[in-house]
Amino acid sequence: MINLTQELYKFVSTNLSVTSSVERTGKGKGVADCHILGIDLDPVLIVRAEEANKFTSNVTYKCVNYMSDSENTISLYLKQQNRNYFDCIFCFSVTMWIHLNYGDEGLKQFLISVSVQTNLVVIEPQPWKCYRSAVRRMKRSGGNFPKFGNLKMRELVSDIENIFLNECNFIRIEKGNPSTDWGRQILFFKKVS
Ligand SMILES: C[S@@+](CC[C@H](N)C(=O)[O-])C[C@H]1O[C@@H](n2cnc3c(N)ncnc32)[C@H](O)[C@@H]1O
Repeated sequence: MINLTQELYKFVSTNLSVTSSVERTGKGKGVADCHILGIDLDPVLIVRAEEANKFTSNVTYKCVNYMSDSENTISLYLKQQNRNYFDCIFCFSVTMWIHLNYGDEGLKQFLISVSVQTNLVVIEPQPWKCYRSAVRRMKRSGGNFPKFGNLKMRELVSDIENIFLNECNFIRIEKGNPSTDWGRQILFFKKVS
């Protein structure tokens, strides 16, 4: 999360010309006034991310459980930015954790909630084989994922795509070929306007 967010900020702020932001700030064309909120459930990760943050005016990290953002951290951040929604939400390697902890319905609610907060989603679903390893690791450490046995969605790429298409009014605009050792697909969805 740390490196990804920092690199994303560098890329967007130097390479993209975001017309609306340029207009809002009055900065010269080609300089995107990009603001990024990076969230994670793990407070240790957030402290590390804050320590490594080279762009403190534009990149903010917050410890949030996306599934129960009781302090409304995300909507408060948007309000501070004078925005009602994000330009883009990135969900890398997180769907499995939401799914294992909150079940099929939780994953669906997560995707719907993401779709309400943005027009564009970049998402990297973990495939089913990763679930088995995560459950094994959890068992070895003495814990368990009680919802695992009841999960019906197991073709994660198509299941997630179906939710975006059928429940969120989004269309898939790109599907990256797995080109890393990870072998994971990155999917891009856009709100149908
Ligand atoms: C495999 S890591 C991926 C981290 C990061 N997205 C990346 O690509 O480097 C999964 C992360 O999801 C976080 N996570 C799991 N459930 C979450 C939730 N409900 N809300 C926020 N973060 C969550 C975990 O704390 C963990 O750091």
